[in-house]
Amino acid sequence: MTAAQIQRIHHSWRLLKAVDPAIVGDVFYSRLFLLYPRLRGMFPKKMEDQHQKLIDMLSHMVARLDQPDQLAQEVQAMGARHLGYGVKPEHYAMIGEALLWTLEKGLGHDWTPETAEAWTACYDLIARKMMEAAAA
Ligand code: HEM
Repeated sequence: MTAAQIQRIHHSWRLLKAVDPAIVGDVFYSRLFLLYPRLRGMFPKKMEDQHQKLIDMLSHMVARLDQPDQLAQEVQAMGARHLGYGVKPEHYAMIGEALLWTLEKGLGHDWTPETAEAWTACYDLIARKMMEAAAA
C-alpha cells in the first residue's frame, strides 16, 4: 500500500469512528447475513460482543498500517484463529464485500474512488495474509 492510501484509510476511519461501533457492527453483520444467510450459523446468537471485537480489531490494524512487520504477525495469528472458527478461503470475499459496502454507506460523500481503492487494497492485503497463515 502507498503512503497516500494509508493516509486515506486513517482519515476515513477517523470519520467513521464518530459513529457508535454498535451501529457500524450491526450494519456490517446485517448486510453480511442478508447477502450470505448461511454464514449466520458460524457466529454466536448474541452478536453485541462481536460488533465491538470487529471494530476494535479494525482500529488496531488501521493504526498499524505503517508498521507492516508487527501488523503481519498479528494478522497471521488472526488467520490461524479463524481456521479454528471454520473460516474457509472463499469466505474472505464475502466479508470484504459487506465491509466495503458498510464503509461506503457510513462515509457517504467521503467515500471517493481513491478511498475505495485504498480500502480495497487494505482488505486484500489483510485477507491474503490471513488466508496464507491458515493454509500454512
Ligand atoms: C479482515 C478480516 C477479518 C477480521 C478483522 C475479523 C475479526 C474478528 C475478530 C476480532 C474476532 C474475535 C476473535 C479473534 O480475535 O480471534 C473474530 C471472530 C470470528 N470471525 Fe472474523 N474477522 C475477519 C474475517 C472473517 C471471515 C472471512 C469470517 C468468515 C465468515 C469470519 C468469521 C468469524 C467467526 C465465525 C468468529 C468467531 C465468532 C465466535 O464464535 O465468537 N471472520 N473475527
